[in-house]
Amino acid sequence: MERIWHLPTPERGTKLSSSQAMKLAISEASKGAPRVSPNPMVGAVVLDAQGGFLSCGYHEFYGGPHAEVNALKNLSPEELRGAHVFVTLEPCAHEGKTPSCAKTMAKLPLKKVTFGLIDPNPLVAGQGAEILRAAGIEAEVFSSPNAEEDHDIKIKLEEACEAFLWNFRQKKVFVALKMASSLDGQVALRSGESQWITGPESREYVHYLRACYDAILVGKGTIEFDNPSLNIRHPTIEKKNKVIVIDAEAELLSRFSDLKLSKVHASADLFWCVAAEIKERVDKVVAEMSGAPQIVYVKTNVGGDLDLQDLLAQLYRQGLRSVMVEGGAMTASSFIDDRLVNRLYMFQAPIIMGSGGSRSWTETIRISSMNEKIHVKNPRYLTFGNDFMITGTL
Ligand SMILES: NC(=O)c1ccc[n+]([C@@H]2O[C@H](COP(=O)([O-])OP(=O)(O)OC[C@H]3O[C@@H](n4cnc5c(N)ncnc54)[C@H](OP(=O)(O)O)[C@@H]3O)[C@@H](O)[C@H]2O)c1
Repeated sequence: MERIWHLPTPERGTKLSSSQAMKLAISEASKGAPRVSPNPMVGAVVLDAQGGFLSCGYHEFYGGPHAEVNALKNLSPEELRGAHVFVTLEPCAHEGKTPSCAKTMAKLPLKKVTFGLIDPNPLVAGQGAEILRAAGIEAEVFSSPNAEEDHDIKIKLEEACEAFLWNFRQKKVFVALKMASSLDGQVALRSGESQWITGPESREYVHYLRACYDAILVGKGTIEFDNPSLNIRHPTIEKKNKVIVIDAEAELLSRFSDLKLSKVHASADLFWCVAAEIKERVDKVVAEMSGAPQIVYVKTNVGGDLDLQDLLAQLYRQGLRSVMVEGGAMTASSFIDDRLVNRLYMFQAPIIMGSGGSRSWTETIRISSMNEKIHVKNPRYLTFGNDFMITGTL
C-alpha cells in the first residue's frame, strides 16, 4: 500500500538509475490503492534521453486514465525525444474504458519502455510490448544486475498488483486479515471488551486500509460486542465501502434495524452470510423487512459452520474482488485455519492483556509440530505511534 515505498518526487533533471526509476514507479502506483479496485495499482516514471527525471504519474481511480497517460500528459514531443518510460505493469494493448496505452505510446518519439510485470492475461501478455516494438521503441521487462535488489523490486511489483494478480490467476477473492493485538497476541478480553488496543495512528491507517479493499468482513460476535459502523473515516479519503457479516443462523437479522451498520450503510452495500439450509426461513424474514441487506446463502460444512471457500466464491460471483477480514477472534482464526488469508496486517500495541482472561486471534488453530508452523512471507515492519505493524503474505 502507500508504505510499500514512499518516495518523494525528484527535482526535474535528477539522474535516476533503472532501479531508482522503477522504485519510484512502484511508489507512484501505491498512491492509487484506495481507488482503483478491481484494476491494479500502476505507476509510471519518465526519464529524458540523458536519464534525467521528467515526470511521473499513476492510475488514480477505476475507469480513469492509466498511469502512462498521466505521466506523459504534460510533456511535449521535444521533451519526449529519446525518453525512457518505466511502468510497473506491461502497457495495455486493448481498448477498455480508456484507449490502449501501448498504442498511445507507439505514436510518441520514445526510445524505450521498461515494464515491471508482464500482463497476467495469457491472451494479451506480450502484446503491449509487441505494439511498442513494431513502432521502433525498445520494450523490455525490468531486471536489475544486483540480484538482491532485483528480488526486492520484483516482490514489491507483485505486491502492488497482488489482488489483481490473484483475481486473474485464481478467479478468487483476495483476502486480507487485519487484527490488533496486545504484545501477547490477545485481541479482546473474555468479557468482549477490546476498545482500544492500538493508538489513534494505527486506527487511522486501518481506515486507509479499509478503502483499499472492496469490502470489510466480520463475524457475528464483533457486531454483538461492538455494534461497529465499519465505514471509512479518514481525513483525506471519502469513500463508501461494503460490509460482509457472517451470521450463519441469521440471529442478528431480527435486530438489523438496531445495528449501527443498518444506519450507516445502504442496504445494497451490506452482505449477510447465512446457512443455505435456512433459506426458507430467512426469505420470509427478509420479505417483511424494509431495507434488508443482501443475503448470501452459503453451504455448511460437516461441523455446521459456513464453508468459507463457498462464502468467498459467492462473493466473487457478486462482483467483489477483495475483502479485509477485521475479526473477531474466531472469524480471524477460521480464515487462517482454512488457509484463506493472502495478506496479514497485524498491529501490535505495547501492552500485555494476559492469555488467562483474553481471546487470541488464532484460538481455533492447533499446530502439533513445528514443521506445520505458518510463515508470514516477505514481512515488512512499520510503526504507527507507539504500535508496530507487521504485514506479509501467508
Ligand atoms: N482486536 C481486534 O483486532 C478485534 C477486531 C474485531 C473484533 N474484536 C473483538 O473480538 C471479539 C469478537 O470475537 P468473537 O470470536 O467472539 O466473534 P467473531 O469472530 O466476530 O464472530 C464469531 C461468530 O461468527 C460466526 N462465525 C465465524 N466464522 C464462522 C464460520 N466459518 N461459520 C459459521 N459462523 C462463523 C460464529 O457465529 P455462530 O455463533 O452463529 O456460530 C461465531 O460465533 C469482540 O470482543 C471484539 O471486540 C477484536
